Amino acid sequence: MGHQEDHAITCSLRRPGTESVTTHTTAAEAACVEGGERTTRHLPRRGLSDPSGILLLMPHDSALDLVQIADPREVTPELRRELIDCWITVTNTGGAAGFPFPPVGDDDVTPVADQLLNRLDPNRSRLLVARADGLLAGWVVLNRDPHRLVGHRGTVHHLQTRPAFRGRGIGSALVHELRRIARDELGLEQLHLAARGGEGLEDFYGRLGWREIGRWPAALRLAPDDTRDEVLMILAPL
Ligand SMILES: CC(C)(COP(=O)(O)OP(=O)(O)OC[C@H]1O[C@@H](n2cnc3c(N)ncnc32)[C@H](O)[C@@H]1OP(=O)(O)O)[C@@H](O)C(=O)NCCC(=O)NCCS
Repeated sequence: MGHQEDHAITCSLRRPGTESVTTHTTAAEAACVEGGERTTRHLPRRGLSDPSGILLLMPHDSALDLVQIADPREVTPELRRELIDCWITVTNTGGAAGFPFPPVGDDDVTPVADQLLNRLDPNRSRLLVARADGLLAGWVVLNRDPHRLVGHRGTVHHLQTRPAFRGRGIGSALVHELRRIARDELGLEQLHLAARGGEGLEDFYGRLGWREIGRWPAALRLAPDDTRDEVLMILAPL
């Protein structure tokens, strides 16, 4: 991820239930701000990296706004619509984000999206939305079962970015911020996810510090002639 060295990045975070927005140049800076007061803009990207050496790829002329939502009442009808549209587009362009059999339409996605949105809860399920220039560019969900046996870990679901916004660091920014939320707000120690094999996702997550801990061979039959492994990945410590 060493290219675009001369760009700056802009990344804004909005805390749940607040309107304040903070702008940062790297995910690491975003991760270390607690009060929402610190603002840093448009520093040169060269040499800026997070603790794991990862640079984000968001050019500064395209501001990224990360908004966390942990309460169904905070989901506006507009956001719900955008989220459903994003999920349909991502699925119908081949994305591995929860619907394995495209094409899908409103009737398929809306009930699943509503279930997901209605389950939002500060302690159990958080939605993180990325907006670029005011448009929904991507989203991801962090779930956590608070039972004391497994309450120290969380699972990441449905990470997706709109095809038009890919390769600009938005997927990475969502994963970085989700990690911060998991660690700093939920006190989690590890994150898990299951990814479809054959999509290059191991590499994407690997560059963000995740590691493969298991692989279920030929677990997913997408079509009679297309059977994939399911890859289990973990991020720990957070
Ligand atoms: C995976 C996904 C979220 C990445 O989003 P993104 O916004 O493009 O991510 P970034 O721009 O932060 O990507 C960072 C790097 O990873 C690479 N990358 C992105 N997706 C990749 C993939 N599927 N395989 C391999 N590399 C990938 C990018 O090319 C970029 O590399 P570069 O720095 O060398 O240019 C997006 O491709 C997507 O929505 N895919 C469909 C849904 C999906 O598969 N979700 C995963 C659920 S587990």
